[in-house]
Amino acid sequence: MKKYSEMTREELLSEKELLEKRYAEKKALGLKLDISRGKPSPEQLALSLPMLDLINSETENFKCENGFDIRNYGVVDGIPECRRLFGEILDAPAENVIVTGNSSLNLFYDLIAHAMCHGVPGGDAPWCECKERKLLCPAPGYDRHFAVGEYFGFKLIPIEMKNDGPNMNQVEALITDPDVKGIICVPKYSNPQGISYSAEVIERFANLSPAAKDFRIFWDNAYTVHHLDFDGEMDEIPSLLRLAEKNGKSDMVYMLGSTSKITFPTAGLAAVASSAANTADIKRMLSFQNIGPDKINQMRHVLFFKNLDGVLKHMRKQAEVIRPKFETVLTVLKEELGETGIAEWNSPKGGYFVSAELLEGTAKRTVSLCKEAGLAITGAGAVYPYGNDPGDSILRIAPTFAPVCELPQAMEIFCISAKLAAIEKLL
Ligand SMILES: Cc1ncc(COP(=O)(O)O)c(C=O)c1O
Repeated sequence: MKKYSEMTREELLSEKELLEKRYAEKKALGLKLDISRGKPSPEQLALSLPMLDLINSETENFKCENGFDIRNYGVVDGIPECRRLFGEILDAPAENVIVTGNSSLNLFYDLIAHAMCHGVPGGDAPWCECKERKLLCPAPGYDRHFAVGEYFGFKLIPIEMKNDGPNMNQVEALITDPDVKGIICVPKYSNPQGISYSAEVIERFANLSPAAKDFRIFWDNAYTVHHLDFDGEMDEIPSLLRLAEKNGKSDMVYMLGSTSKITFPTAGLAAVASSAANTADIKRMLSFQNIGPDKINQMRHVLFFKNLDGVLKHMRKQAEVIRPKFETVLTVLKEELGETGIAEWNSPKGGYFVSAELLEGTAKRTVSLCKEAGLAITGAGAVYPYGNDPGDSILRIAPTFAPVCELPQAMEIFCISAKLAAIEKLL
């Protein structure tokens, strides 16, 4: 098959006719398919159900290591054994880890809100006093991160993503502006591209010298143990906090993580690892905010996993469930789009997404064609600050939630739609 860009007008018209026929057939099926959000599937959630039986009236394991009763008030920074567990997951010393709540997005929001109202260690004033405050946003990125920044009145500045992480020349140039207060990163198996930052990029992060004394790197390591093939290639990255500590710059770093996609997105745990000064500052914030964090859930997680090795064994089971879904997505993409020359995509080694780069100017049209044929997909532009994809070309595919048997159908609709949109554009 010829590339679309090399086809004559007649060839494109006849390809279009074939695609329109296929599209009409799919539409007539009245399907309701969804590859829009990165949610664990019911089979994945079932893997963590035994955790719910580990603490009850018979087990009597209500005391944590420091002697506190996990059912009662207190221990705002998390029980020691759970801080240690997250220390292993995030690669940080346990004493620098705070475990709280069930959502890392919530923690990110709280950290920003706290900085806005009270400032952060090393800063002269609350961030709200900086009228032109700016947040650097490597893009494509996670839409909800951008939404939090926008909600708090930051000017969002997109940073180009390369194959090994954000364009660091751009980052280093922009942080000479004292109004740039932070950057939000997903350093491993990034959302949506599945990119892991290289050691060199992370070293440059650990060495940043921002003009703002209260500049912060929000290092959302959401997918740190989310490998897709535990017997194959897996990415590992160095700990930003440890590297920054060596450079005397650890106040710059908040490393975030959660078990939302390890156990349950609603009843998991979230944690932040940071410098001693930041950890004390966050602990103080929490002492006003919540004097009775859910330590029962912390203990459940500790009993269930014991240590990082336990987490990895569990994640291997998760990978067995979702790998076939990723494989299906990649197979259909290759079969349908491989020879057309209208799309490129990543083959991630972990994380939750496949990111497709379509012919410029066709992402929005592809989404609306998908929708009309019964396939929900994340909106075009969502992966850029302000929903503004300059090329209108990037779409995020989330394979985990849909049953594997639905994915071939969903991906065929996606590819037919992308091809139709491309031909419309070329004609
Ligand atoms: C990069 C990233 N961070 C955070 C979250 C949300 O995490 P949590 O459930 O811990 O708030 C997601 C969810 O998709 C994500 O992709």
